[in-house]
Amino acid sequence: MTSAKVELGRLPTENTMRKLRIAAFASGRGSNLAAILDSIKRRTLDCEVVLVMSNKPTAGVLDIARTHGIAALHLAQEQFEHAEDFDRRLLGALAEHQVEMIVLAGYLKKINPAIIRDYKNRILNIHPALLPAFGGKGMYGRNVHQAVLDYGCKVSGVTVHLVDEEYDRGPPVLQKCVPVKEGDTAESLAARVLVEEHKIFSEALQLFAEGRVEVRGRRAVIRE
Ligand code: GRF
Repeated sequence: MTSAKVELGRLPTENTMRKLRIAAFASGRGSNLAAILDSIKRRTLDCEVVLVMSNKPTAGVLDIARTHGIAALHLAQEQFEHAEDFDRRLLGALAEHQVEMIVLAGYLKKINPAIIRDYKNRILNIHPALLPAFGGKGMYGRNVHQAVLDYGCKVSGVTVHLVDEEYDRGPPVLQKCVPVKEGDTAESLAARVLVEEHKIFSEALQLFAEGRVEVRGRRAVIRE
């Protein structure tokens, strides 16, 4: 594990010519992963995706990984008798690929404490609403947007946040508002929010790649 550890605030910067090595965990189609890969290709994101892990063997995200020549790993806790064995296997894969940071790009499982401990303040999640509203267990996919509409909100948005032991609870790194429009359905709102997701995830990651994020209690402070 030690080789994969990088102190927060000392992550490689652009002028070291070293890319931040990231793993993506995802359960679905992977449009956020595709957006991250696109930012890397356009050279606006100094990262390298070195591993993609999914708990779903048929997830589109694994196909995206294979297409890009990225290590694709199907790993689910159900494959193991004990949670510790799952953790060991996952941490082994992360160490093998020298992963410095993990992004949850539509990963529907809770992250076990062993992973949170080894990657403290180095796991980012994207949530399609303005946390702490409309987050927590069961708040994923269409449910989030339907709940926003049912409440009568005028704005929704996106939150990129650090991950701790609870769903959607860690400190926000970046947030962006997205208007709710008259006549919106969960699908139309989701589509408008997704456009912003695809920008903000890469922006947040780039802040880490530049070593500009410092966590002070609940605040993720971004240095100029
Ligand atoms: C996104 O809406 C993200 O905010 C949420 O899960 C969805 C994943 O979508 N956490 P995709 O698989 O990246 O297209």
